[in-house]
Amino acid sequence: MDFAGLERLRNAAGTAPAERPWPSATGFRSLTATVADLPSVVRLTERFIAASVLSHRIGVSATDLRTDSPEGIYDAAGLRAFLQTMGPEQARMAVENSGRSLAPGGTQQLLLS
Ligand SMILES: C[S@@+](CC[C@H](N)C(=O)[O-])C[C@H]1O[C@@H](n2cnc3c(N)ncnc32)[C@H](O)[C@@H]1O
Repeated sequence: MDFAGLERLRNAAGTAPAERPWPSATGFRSLTATVADLPSVVRLTERFIAASVLSHRIGVSATDLRTDSPEGIYDAAGLRAFLQTMGPEQARMAVENSGRSLAPGGTQQLLLS
């Protein structure tokens, strides 16, 4: 993902290392990121974030994307290694719910792996 011009990034269902979206983003001082995942998972995610040097710029949103949109408005969202964990109808709902929290002109990136 090209971070140029972005202010608010969301790594939906990004349980994995909280720093994952960041290696190429560290130069962008105004960029903030939110990890959206299931409520039971973000509790663990918060522990990884707390250990990150960029913890002040990373937050979480406890969201079941099958039924809800992440709180907040974002310029970009990434759904990586996520859609294949659910059935087609649930995946469709998740993409729709995720898209609802994008700013006008925002982009959503769907990656299978
Ligand atoms: C295979 S992991 C991928 C994590 C991360 N995006 C990555 O690329 O490393 C799938 C993630 O989707 C999350 N997940 C599954 N169902 C979800 C849902 N309905 N809403 C939000 N997150 C969900 C899981 O908790 C898990 O963290």
